[in-house]
Amino acid sequence: MTDRYIDAHTRSLEDPDGFWGEIAEDIIWTKKWDKVLDSSNAPFYRWFVGGECNTCYNAVDRHVDEGRGDQAAIIYDSPIIGGVIKTLTYSELKDAVARFAGALRTRGVGKGDRVIVYMPMVPEAVIAMLACARLGAVHSVVFGGFAANELAVRIDDAKPKVIVSASCGIEPARIIPYKPLLDGAIDAASHKPDACIILQREQETCELTPGRDSDWGTAVAEAEPAKCVTVKATDPLYILYTSGTTGRPKGVVRDNGGHMVALKYTMKAVYNVEPGDVYWSASDVGWVVGHSYIVYGPLLNGNTTVVFEGKPVGTPDAGVFWRVISQHKVKVMFTAPTAFRAIKRDDPEAKLLGQYDMSGFKTLFLAGERTDPDTLHWAEDNLKVPVIDHWWQTETGWSIAANCMGLHPYPVKPGSPTKAAPGWDVRVLDDACNEVPNGNIGALCCKLPLPPGTLPTLWNADERFKEAYLDEFPGYYKTADAGYIDDEGYLYIMARTDDIINVAGHRLSTGGMEEVLASHPDVAECAVIGVADQLKGQLPVGFLVLKAGVDRAETDIVKEVIGLVRERIGPVAAFKQASVVKRLPKTRSGKILRGTMQKIADNEQYKMPATIDDPVILEEIETALEGIGYAKARG
Ligand code: COA
Ligand code: AMP
Repeated sequence: MTDRYIDAHTRSLEDPDGFWGEIAEDIIWTKKWDKVLDSSNAPFYRWFVGGECNTCYNAVDRHVDEGRGDQAAIIYDSPIIGGVIKTLTYSELKDAVARFAGALRTRGVGKGDRVIVYMPMVPEAVIAMLACARLGAVHSVVFGGFAANELAVRIDDAKPKVIVSASCGIEPARIIPYKPLLDGAIDAASHKPDACIILQREQETCELTPGRDSDWGTAVAEAEPAKCVTVKATDPLYILYTSGTTGRPKGVVRDNGGHMVALKYTMKAVYNVEPGDVYWSASDVGWVVGHSYIVYGPLLNGNTTVVFEGKPVGTPDAGVFWRVISQHKVKVMFTAPTAFRAIKRDDPEAKLLGQYDMSGFKTLFLAGERTDPDTLHWAEDNLKVPVIDHWWQTETGWSIAANCMGLHPYPVKPGSPTKAAPGWDVRVLDDACNEVPNGNIGALCCKLPLPPGTLPTLWNADERFKEAYLDEFPGYYKTADAGYIDDEGYLYIMARTDDIINVAGHRLSTGGMEEVLASHPDVAECAVIGVADQLKGQLPVGFLVLKAGVDRAETDIVKEVIGLVRERIGPVAAFKQASVVKRLPKTRSGKILRGTMQKIADNEQYKMPATIDDPVILEEIETALEGIGYAKARG
């Protein structure tokens, strides 16, 4: 039997122009490209140069033109507001998007202008994104769990003409008023948007700022529908900010043409869904998974996408995923392992599953963090469908490695996201940029050029793009993940090589948190590490060294820094533990030994670093960790 995965993977690397050029025929272009891959400005590569298109046309209008107008495009399911379910067909979505695009256009938004979308998981968030795409404007969605300060940083970098927001988001225990966060962010930012459009939600409405804000409903009612605007394949579709190694986030840019080609391809090749199938990604539009697989991938492919406003547990119970799958006939679902750990914790025997007809459900995909074998087996045993771990990043926009269910499914090896996806040439390198033998851990790097759909650069920061991803291993993209490849080509992703941690599938920078802690007037020095957590994968823990002479109660200072992180970064950081210590362990050259601290917290054996300036400090760290409930093991 021929292996369609091997054929595709081999051809994608040997003949990228032929491979992606053929796949690109699946997209409707206003003008076809002159060149599939343009390497003339390496290490900056561009795909489908000379091509012209519109992403919204391909995601929405095209399906109406091709007879899918009455098919559901979006099913909005919100258990968090008491079980509201609303369906939008492709025709209805087209009308809604065209009208909202008209409202944006009235406010001066045109090709290349930026629009920030700061919204909860409601269909209007998707409509706003698609409306930007329709006008050739560039959206930048900011996750609702981020604080005003994070929003302000993004406003100053993206310089939006308009911000689209809502009166509130809803979490299980509370309503989150968005308007104070939005106003606070606009006050704090140097750049000011010309206008804001606010979706008033009945759970909590807000006062609109005269002269700046409009109500979504009124703005749409007054608008003339806008047509799709043709853009270059290489024009930006969106900017998505993600954690960098400091508090300054990186603006990952996505283009129009290559992005469409790659995402549509993955819907069949990776996820094995056909147009018309119901596909559900239980993520948030604020994350890359939401961009690629709540919005663009499924809609480009003519699927029905589920927009879910709820949590895996507590809305109302650990059976909600099964209810959504059976009620909406979901064929393929995508979520983060942490969601399954939460379900397993609440319903270890999956008793609630028995209440639902899961016969149409074919595959579960997991990503965002490594799928631990326990979670994998629990999901496999209970769901009785393939459970597929796949590895990707905000930067890549789609999976670097996956078990390609639409090409050639391979046996699952626990702990591995299987093999490099077509288009990806993954190598494991040592510090000198040499490949290491199979089985040895090194830096996971991808040989350039990266396939279509990946980041061409960072927003207004070509140099930073090169420095962050390309300079360390010339000729390669540095993923900043460490891992290895086994003799059968399976990849294993072991750890980040930078200070990024993964909290409940959310990517956070410990460096960014340290900047916040260091801003406290009593803190002389600090370190934040990610320690293993059974539910969330990792949780941040802070260590504070106080300035000489500070004699306030340590518990007060700890409380204050926890509050500061929540206020500046947001609740999503889940920063709830910190400890005051006398000193931080350092090398003789002054580098804080965060890796060793993390091993102590995770109860792992560690070697006393040869360069440590004073080993006794590690005992103090152990004691501090014990004080806040973490395990201890001296190597
Ligand atoms: N707006 C405002 N606040 C938000 C928010 C949002 N959109 N999303 C999360 N928060 C807040 C939560 O209310 C919580 O606040 P708290 O400290 O007051 O309790 C905090 O941020 C952390 O939220 P969360 O990460 O959701 O943790 P949790 O303990 O409430 O729930 C899980 C744990 C595992 C159920 C949850 O993290 C989850 O569903 N994870 C899946 C993640 C995911 O889909 N990731 C996308 C990658 S595929
Ligand atoms: P994000 O940009 O938020 O998608 O986070 C990307 C990071 O999450 C990667 O660099 C990895 O560290 C981690 N990650 C994502 N998917 C996986 C996976 N399947 N296995 C292991 N780590 C993963």
